[in-house]
Amino acid sequence: MRLACIVGARPNFMKIAPILRAMKNHDSLNPILIHTGQHYDKNLSDVFFEELGIDPPDIALGIGSGSHAQQTADVMVAIEKVLLDAHESGEPFDRLIVVGDVNSTAAAAIAAVKLHIPVAHVEAGLRSSDRRMPEEINRVITDAICDMLLVSEPSGVENLKKEGHPDEIIHLVGNVMIDTLMTQVDRAKDSGMVERLGLEPGAYGVATLHRPSNVDTAEVLGGLVDVIVDISSEMPFVFPIHPRTKARLESFDLLGRLKTAPHVHCLEPIGYLDFLNLTSQAKVIVTDSGGLQEESTALLVPCLTMRENTERPVTCTQGTSTLIGNDTEKLHLYLRQVIEGTYKKGQCPELWDGKAAERISQILIAEGKRKQP
Ligand code: UD1
Repeated sequence: MRLACIVGARPNFMKIAPILRAMKNHDSLNPILIHTGQHYDKNLSDVFFEELGIDPPDIALGIGSGSHAQQTADVMVAIEKVLLDAHESGEPFDRLIVVGDVNSTAAAAIAAVKLHIPVAHVEAGLRSSDRRMPEEINRVITDAICDMLLVSEPSGVENLKKEGHPDEIIHLVGNVMIDTLMTQVDRAKDSGMVERLGLEPGAYGVATLHRPSNVDTAEVLGGLVDVIVDISSEMPFVFPIHPRTKARLESFDLLGRLKTAPHVHCLEPIGYLDFLNLTSQAKVIVTDSGGLQEESTALLVPCLTMRENTERPVTCTQGTSTLIGNDTEKLHLYLRQVIEGTYKKGQCPELWDGKAAERISQILIAEGKRKQP
């Protein structure tokens, strides 16, 4: 089976790496990697290919940044051309594989389905029910048109059934992001990041923020900066800053406050291994990233999630995550619980066991056999 695997932005790379690796063990699966170029900075893209052992993309589209409509449209046009060229050259794709919920995910799926190329969605069914989030729109659109829905947690199966998707196309396979975490966690121990920052294992916090709801207004972002600076006198904080957050901190005149706080370590976005070295030994994670909510759950590290809702409820019901919204009092309260050791304990959800990508391969192989003439 010729499979076009699509990646575009940072969280996609951790999801596709184990899938490509698992496919290599099966002669009948022939994956081609297409990078849309939604993320293009070395720190947001190349470093993940190097560290996760992903071969350079077979096709790089170089789309780059833009408004949502522009970026989505550019990916659609470029992917359509790749798919049509493949068809004309006599080597058409049997299926597209898209992962996650970024603009590249939905755009690639739309282009392929309209050319009658079936699409599998990895991380299907997740719903925050918050249509102000661009990712939620991408999830709903992608699932609506895919004919193979590969799901990471039970809520995804329920959501897809409620939306009327037939049982035969829904597969609970587990979490590919956790496949990557399990493969890399030992290697990450050698990265030395915690020591380089002069931190004590288990005694510092990690913060990441990039969602518009947290970073696009001075009031909200300023409130969060205040809490991080305040608490850092008791527990140092590491804050790798996403490019859009850095731009907002600068324009709201907040970057100086963070940088001059003696126990806040402001960093550029960092690679996977350095980041896993930090998160796996952290006392607490404060984040608005969905992926990090999952990773902290697998690592059993408390996670205070700066969102009103989550498409990954298992990280709260079973895992280590608590939804904080952007309520700074609540953030303080839960940070106190973490410091005092009274914060809840979590457990790793079922099928987050490092074998999700192999389950996906088996589903694809079974499909290939069914379709053989
Ligand atoms: C995207 C995803 C989000 C994911 C996040 C992880 C969508 C809708 N959002 O958000 O789900 O959690 O990636 O980072 O797809 N930029 C750079 N260098 C880059 C890429 C972007 O500086 O390599 C800057 C640009 O100013 C750009 C801005 O970041 O305009 C936003 O990038 P974009 O890809 O549009 O969305 P993210 O906020 O990164």
